[in-house]
Amino acid sequence: MSSDVLFRPFKIKGLNLPNRVVMAPMTRSFSPGGIPTEDVARYYRRRAEGAVGFIISEGTGVDRPASLNDPNVPRFHGEKELAGWRRVVDGVHAAGGLMAPQLWHVGAVRTRAKDWSPPGAYDSPSGLSRPEKKFGEPMSEEDIADAIRAFADAALAAKRLGFDAVELHGAHGYLIDQFFWEGTNRREDTYGGKDLPGRARFAAEIVHAVRKSVGTDFPILLRISQWKQQDFEVKLADTPRALEAWLKPLVDAGVDILHCSQRRFWEPEFDGSDLNFAGWAKKVTGVPTISVGSVGLSGEFIAAYGGESSRPASLDELIRRLGREEFDLVAVGRALLQDPQWLLKVRDGRTEELMAFERTAFAALS
Ligand SMILES: Cc1cc2nc3c(=O)[nH]c(=O)nc-3n(C[C@H](O)[C@H](O)[C@H](O)COP(=O)(O)O)c2cc1C
Repeated sequence: MSSDVLFRPFKIKGLNLPNRVVMAPMTRSFSPGGIPTEDVARYYRRRAEGAVGFIISEGTGVDRPASLNDPNVPRFHGEKELAGWRRVVDGVHAAGGLMAPQLWHVGAVRTRAKDWSPPGAYDSPSGLSRPEKKFGEPMSEEDIADAIRAFADAALAAKRLGFDAVELHGAHGYLIDQFFWEGTNRREDTYGGKDLPGRARFAAEIVHAVRKSVGTDFPILLRISQWKQQDFEVKLADTPRALEAWLKPLVDAGVDILHCSQRRFWEPEFDGSDLNFAGWAKKVTGVPTISVGSVGLSGEFIAAYGGESSRPASLDELIRRLGREEFDLVAVGRALLQDPQWLLKVRDGRTEELMAFERTAFAALS
């Protein structure tokens, strides 16, 4: 099947993408003290040199004491940190690429570091790391207001540094998603409640504040997932109608693109249709969407952490869906982590040169 559809340009606001392939955000933990190094800058630049149209950075922490749970994950506040990011975005631009940082707050997800802990209390809606599992204290209204401010400040910094858009990490069971999920949001104030639009209020206020700080023309992406790292089977929305009720207020607040995280992009979201999560999100909101999940590889990414290798896999199903405009863009994670030349090989039909994903790729910034 021809891969031409992957190489059609795409435009939203001031963002003119040369093709439909996006580098998925991937935490690499190679930024000691939270500062992206020259190696990090070269790593992203190589993907831009490999024709990746749009790069979303690894998650990068906003200005709250415990926004990150790993000292080697980059932060997106502070002079040295932002100077590091400026090197990154300048390098990507010099190679003809475009880039957004993924702004991140991990919420109540405990650090795995042995001799380090975050310099402040963990934030979460209800002091739960998963349903019924107490971890820390619920955020006060002041904490919530400060977290919203932290996202808005980071977005403004992104714009000032010359980034082309921002992505807010609202997926995978981290802070924003902990508010979405009834299992971890037991609040009875205006940030909680039984209905999803109510629990989406924290995210909507962040989007609103970010929009206010970056102005109308700067694209805002929001990454969302039904699944949680705490529980892969959770569905926040179990019908298209519930999905619409969840996403509509977020789009109204200013989201331009929904980045819909699945572990396998071909899995249908609801019974009775083969549309995937990105397909449904586009259908119920009308905004462009990004799909993701095992593109070009035989196995999914959580298994990769456990050491499972993945073979190169056909792109036919992806191309078919993109051709039908079920979604607009495609994010690629491990295939690009493994091989910065992946997209050039796809473009030039060099199928036999496509690489398997090996866990050893996690160990270096190649
Ligand atoms: C090493 C690694 C780190 C990741 N870190 C992030 C992250 O910081 N933010 C995020 O939203 N997703 C993160 N993800 C998920 C990816 O963005 C992507 O959704 C997932 O890898 C599926 O795409 P793939 O099958 O093409 O790898 C990470 C994935 C990997 C493999």
